[in-house]
Amino acid sequence: MSNKIALACDHGGYELKEATKKYLESKGIEYVDFGCNGESVNYPEYAHKLCVSIQDGTCYRGILFCGTGIGISIAANKHKGIRAACCSDTFSARMTRMHNDANVLCMGGRVVGPGLALDMVELFLNTEFEGGRHQTRVDMITALEND
Ligand code: RB5
Repeated sequence: MSNKIALACDHGGYELKEATKKYLESKGIEYVDFGCNGESVNYPEYAHKLCVSIQDGTCYRGILFCGTGIGISIAANKHKGIRAACCSDTFSARMTRMHNDANVLCMGGRVVGPGLALDMVELFLNTEFEGGRHQTRVDMITALEND
């Protein structure tokens, strides 16, 4: 399995993406940056690039950023096998790994500052899925994709 993290953003999330890149570099964690570079773009395109990289195995998890984190998470969740969680607190970032096995974290550059965002990144990357009854529920979500 790939050990790379996928990153993508629109203009509203560009600064947080750049801060996250620095953080990952400081930890020696490999990433793939799917853009944007700060220009005004349409977030669904960037959500799509990132989700495809997880679906095809290039990356194992992803982090998406837009102004609120909401639009880009809605777009990401249209992709099979993607469980994207829009978070603005550390409790949710931890729990979405433990209970939802989220493979994409979404954050809003107009909602959270870099300090909080990087705490969420750390939790998202270092918290294990609990499985058990939560696996049953995740399997039910997967079944919904095939309806
Ligand atoms: C772009 O202005 C903004 O709509 C986008 O970044 C995001 O907040 C959408 O949910």
